[in-house]
Amino acid sequence: MKVKNITVLGSGVMGHGIAQVSATAGYNVVLRDIKKEFLDKAMEKIKWSLDKLVSKEKISKEEGDSIFSRITPIVDLSDAVKDAELIIEVVPEIMDLKKKVYEELDKVAAPEVIFASNTSTLPITEIANTTSRPEKFIGIHFFNPPQLMKLVEVIPGEKTSQEVTDLTLEYVKSVNKEAVVCRKDVPGFIINRLFIPMVHEACFLKDRTGATLEEIDSAVKFKLGFPMGIFELADFTGMDVIHKATTEMYLRDKKVINPHPLVEKMFDDKKLGQKSGEGYYKYSDDKYERVSLSEELAAKCNPIQIVANILNNAAWLITNGASDIEEIEKAAKLGLGLKKPLFETAKEIGIRKIVEELNKLAKEHGEFYKPDPLLVSMQ
Ligand SMILES: NC(=O)c1ccc[n+]([C@@H]2O[C@H](COP(=O)([O-])OP(=O)(O)OC[C@H]3O[C@@H](n4cnc5c(N)ncnc54)[C@H](O)[C@@H]3O)[C@@H](O)[C@H]2O)c1
Repeated sequence: MKVKNITVLGSGVMGHGIAQVSATAGYNVVLRDIKKEFLDKAMEKIKWSLDKLVSKEKISKEEGDSIFSRITPIVDLSDAVKDAELIIEVVPEIMDLKKKVYEELDKVAAPEVIFASNTSTLPITEIANTTSRPEKFIGIHFFNPPQLMKLVEVIPGEKTSQEVTDLTLEYVKSVNKEAVVCRKDVPGFIINRLFIPMVHEACFLKDRTGATLEEIDSAVKFKLGFPMGIFELADFTGMDVIHKATTEMYLRDKKVINPHPLVEKMFDDKKLGQKSGEGYYKYSDDKYERVSLSEELAAKCNPIQIVANILNNAAWLITNGASDIEEIEKAAKLGLGLKKPLFETAKEIGIRKIVEELNKLAKEHGEFYKPDPLLVSMQ
């Protein structure tokens, strides 16, 4: 089977970007949403983005026009999927809604059509099993914005065929992205499993040590090689997204995350980060504003508990057969922008020290912190 025609279901933040990168790679794309005005807005955004690439001389005017002409907005579902070999679903992260969408889709899409979900946190196998074709169902997790972010996580469900995984990997490569395969359908896949618990852990570190937001963020940036501080990154991502991911991951596995009450409180208080003008930090307008971080501030904070948390989750992924060190490092570099490999930082700090810290935390704060057997064996 060869994929030439793709239907993207949902034209919001992620959907319009996925349509654009697919059309740029030469696919014929149908973009589907529930209302024409949503599609008009999405097509406008795509036009704006292509015009910007033309003005920066990244593509020619003709290329821009031809990419745009390969995207057809359609509201009617049957019409939208009639030629598709691959359907990428990018509707809101609500399980009941996704299930309803797949129920409709299953009836109108030909049996050989592949279903790929861009879900960030929902279980692939559970959604796949609501369709008549779980072997043709796969997770394809693009990052925001899809036009710029290089990483795509590919998540086969329990019944996904190797052929469908291979085709999906081929598609990811063809749109000029780098795939990492999360070999098991685990909560948070790879990136969210590393990132989301870390936000909570940074809150606990603040409570336990009295370090300031800026000190912790500076340590994360200058000592751990992150492109920005963890609280900055959380504000940039949005506390609604983090809260949602926390809830979904915690629902499936109590051991993946130690929820800090502040995350829920900020969500309830609508302190959503940059988009609402206030998160961990305050923002004077919705423009991207950098908090001032420095090596001097970094010197005041020891981020070992944060490294210990991220490393313990990385080790869990390996111990449980979901990934390996190489793939985790690739994901962390491309998905989190890490400038230094995670296990390299850990070795510099000393794995023995990290295991000791985890044992100490486990004693004081419970089993959640128990070091993964892989880390214990690496000391
Ligand atoms: N926003 C992010 O940063 C991000 C990053 C990675 C993955 N995701 C995932 O991508 C998915 C979509 O997120 P988003 O941020 O683009 O959401 P969004 O709310 O911006 O867009 C969703 C779109 O789907 C449309 N929609 C609803 N029902 C539909 C239906 N039956 N058929 C077609 N379209 C329908 C909505 O009208 C809306 O335009 C979610 O699963 C989310 O977890 C989001």
